[in-house]
Amino acid sequence: MSNHLIPAVITKKWAEAEGVFCFTLELPGNEILPPVEAGAHIDVEIREGVVRQYSLCQPPGSQHYQIGVLNDPTSRGGSRDLTQSIEVGSVLRISRPRNHFGLVPSARHSILIAGGIGITPILAMAEQLQARGQSFELHYGARSQNSAAFIKRLAQSVIASHIRLAFDDLGQRLDLKEILSDPHPDEHVYVCGPSGLIEAVLATAKAQGWPERSVHREFFGGAVQPTSEGQEIEVTAARSGLTVIVSPDMSVAQALVQAGVDVTTFCEQGVCGSCMTRVIEGVPDHRDQYLSDAEKSAGDQLLLCCSRARTSALILDI
Ligand code: FES
Repeated sequence: MSNHLIPAVITKKWAEAEGVFCFTLELPGNEILPPVEAGAHIDVEIREGVVRQYSLCQPPGSQHYQIGVLNDPTSRGGSRDLTQSIEVGSVLRISRPRNHFGLVPSARHSILIAGGIGITPILAMAEQLQARGQSFELHYGARSQNSAAFIKRLAQSVIASHIRLAFDDLGQRLDLKEILSDPHPDEHVYVCGPSGLIEAVLATAKAQGWPERSVHREFFGGAVQPTSEGQEIEVTAARSGLTVIVSPDMSVAQALVQAGVDVTTFCEQGVCGSCMTRVIEGVPDHRDQYLSDAEKSAGDQLLLCCSRARTSALILDI
């Protein structure tokens, strides 16, 4: 699961906003980090067996990586450990960047929408669009000004004129109907933040006539559907011919690993896509936040870490 990880040193850590810490990561010995496009994320191994995904938010052309981490009291411990125990000089293992939230280069205009810590990839996207001279607008909602990360960086940048802010404690709200009121085939919408915001953006965009392919979302930090509820399923790993019984209290991935099948998982929350597997037979019960509605309807792929089955058995291409 983690042999793809490389060591990186924390060279800076600072409190960016209420409950939010930023970290700068560099490779030891001044080695060059792989270049990234805006929207990319890395896996960070916080401790043995605990890997979390964080969007990269360093300015374009940086020689280092930067992540922003919310110390979420409801988190399963990863972000809390990172914000409280990891200091400058600590060495963490990280993955190469991956990007399933990249900008569409041909977009005539991009509408960026962020809620809370969801600003991290959106900030990188805004700075990349600005650097390339492409048209965009940024809408950023947060509980309060104190809890909103990167406010200074945004305000001091030339992109300040593209930004509209909304703070809950001032009674302000992102007006999604207005923001998405004018669908255009050459424009794209990107949203990152809590699952409630993402769902509201997806629903509003659909109601306003935006095509599904023009609306892109990043679910990190969002609510994850329970992975453990469901009926017992019989799962066959077609490549080895092994059949396992997945009990209601375990995921398909766990059952396969227990039987000795090689399964790749990183987030274990249905957001990163690393455990996606082709379905040969059976009907998936999708519980992930990675596949689009169209991909879910097609029913030919399954996220092993969280999804289950509507049929009593599945045959998977693994
Ligand atoms: S491990 Fe990330 S989606 Fe399954």
